[in-house]
Amino acid sequence: MSNGERVVLALGGAGTVGSGLVKGLLDRGFKVAVVSRDKNKLEKLRDFVSPSTKGNLTTLVGDVGSEEEAEEVKQALLKSVGKITDVVSSLGFSWWQGGPPHTQPLKELHWVIETLLFSTFVSWKTFFPLVRDDPNCTYTFITGGAGEKLLMPGTGFLTVGSAGTLAFCQILREEYAEVPCKLNQVKINTGVGTPERMGPGYLNHVELGEAVATLVERRNKSHTVFNINCPADLKTVICNDKGAL
Ligand SMILES: NC(=O)c1ccc[n+]([C@@H]2O[C@H](COP(=O)([O-])OP(=O)(O)OC[C@H]3O[C@@H](n4cnc5c(N)ncnc54)[C@H](OP(=O)(O)O)[C@@H]3O)[C@@H](O)[C@H]2O)c1
Repeated sequence: MSNGERVVLALGGAGTVGSGLVKGLLDRGFKVAVVSRDKNKLEKLRDFVSPSTKGNLTTLVGDVGSEEEAEEVKQALLKSVGKITDVVSSLGFSWWQGGPPHTQPLKELHWVIETLLFSTFVSWKTFFPLVRDDPNCTYTFITGGAGEKLLMPGTGFLTVGSAGTLAFCQILREEYAEVPCKLNQVKINTGVGTPERMGPGYLNHVELGEAVATLVERRNKSHTVFNINCPADLKTVICNDKGAL
């Protein structure tokens, strides 16, 4: 199956990480479908991708953290694009630093868990059945390293939410050890930014997108965690396949 025959669903595709992924995938010839709760973000995404690839981008407004809406989105997508062969999931948010736990309301913890974990779970439960039994299909999670430690004072709930997503990905690798679909995780232990908003050691979202597009294109690894600590790792860990766990 050529890239042009494959349809990648990019969950979180209108975000900082996701927009780089969408551009990288489109530039590699894939068809890409993106769901966002915000119509304006989808319009911005359309302006961001390479003009010649716009025709291969399908956008849809929806909340994939709600079981009902995710199901509606799935039906609408299958109608408009016909099939989904690959899923890339980069749901969540860029940063949270609401303060130390004793200053935080429960509502805030609900929001963090909802955005990082519940959306990842509900969308996986909805879309994984479309790809799980086909060895030519892929499902890739993009996660962060914040779940392993407190990045700095006041980021505790980010750690709780990210740890939930990391644990969920681990469960899937172990619980579904035998699925034919290529199930992988790219774990980014640094920041990701657009060229206008970069910090020291950050990954450029477009370069990250190009590397993940390579991974999706190759489909030669499964149940693997690709650990990315710095920009150079995009080439050594993903593109050369060295250093993956
Ligand atoms: N940014 C970084 O520095 C960094 C570093 C390491 C790892 N990561 C990983 O990358 C993930 C995404 O980061 P980001 O910087 O791209 O965040 P972002 O710009 O806030 O994008 C996240 C996207 O997730 C979507 N989303 C969340 N809940 C949703 C739901 N229920 N239904 C539909 N869409 C939903 C949002 O869509 P809407 O358009 O609907 O708001 C948003 O576009 C993080 O959670 C983390 O795991 C990021």
